[in-house]
Amino acid sequence: MVISFNSIKGGVGKSTIAANMAAWLHKQGHDVLLIDGDDQETVSDFTAWREQTLGNTGYTLVNMTGLNLRKQVESLKSKYDHIVIDTGGRDTTSQRAALTVADIAMIPFVPRSFDLWTINKVLPLIDEIQSIRAVPLIVYTFLSRADIRSADNREVAEALNGFEQLTFLPFPISNRKAVSNAAGVGLAVFEAPDPDKKAVVEIEALFNHIINGSNTSTTA
Ligand SMILES: Nc1ncnc2c1ncn2[C@@H]1O[C@H](COP(=O)(O)OP(=O)(O)OP(=O)(O)O)[C@@H](O)[C@H]1O
Ligand SMILES: [Mg+2]
Repeated sequence: MVISFNSIKGGVGKSTIAANMAAWLHKQGHDVLLIDGDDQETVSDFTAWREQTLGNTGYTLVNMTGLNLRKQVESLKSKYDHIVIDTGGRDTTSQRAALTVADIAMIPFVPRSFDLWTINKVLPLIDEIQSIRAVPLIVYTFLSRADIRSADNREVAEALNGFEQLTFLPFPISNRKAVSNAAGVGLAVFEAPDPDKKAVVEIEALFNHIINGSNTSTTA
């Protein structure tokens, strides 16, 4: 499966979750390609730290942006079990290329009203992409960097649930230090020396749902 992380807004957790997903898919025994489609190179930095921390990354990393991304993914697709693409919020050429070639688009939303307003730019982009695709793109939205207890979560979740072009996944990723601390040394949250169990359950519930269509976590 080709899974692309996209958003119009920056800083919503795309790179963090994409890197966690590549590590998680590897842990599940899959052959994984992680594509850094952002000039900021966040997942490349993550991977460099990972190599230092673990000695090996477990997945293959490549950098590619723009129109090249679509062609390359099409030719690499058959060589991997899964391809995870991280895109940069501002680079619309790479985002379009990724959305054209992906099976699944993951669009995180931080549950604040400013972030929800970007939906007005997301919907026309998705409509445009769907109109040129032979097979419809599966578009998932979910809450990212959510407050652990906040009325905003429910309000934004309800709003996201109301768009027929998007499938809202009720598997929020909360804002937790454990997530950013682990990523800072190139580790997924479940690879940290003393993992934050709640953070692990959340991220695995999201990934399990996407890959296995199940909402059960592999970690108790
Ligand atoms: N669940 C989380 N809990 C705590 N911190 C998080 C979480 N997700 C992301 N962060 C932190 O938020 C910041 C932005 O995250 P990230 O770089 O993954 O976002 P992005 O959407 O890829 O941003 P950009 O649009 O700039 O590429 C980083 O400092 C990251 O460590
Ligand atoms: Mg990023």
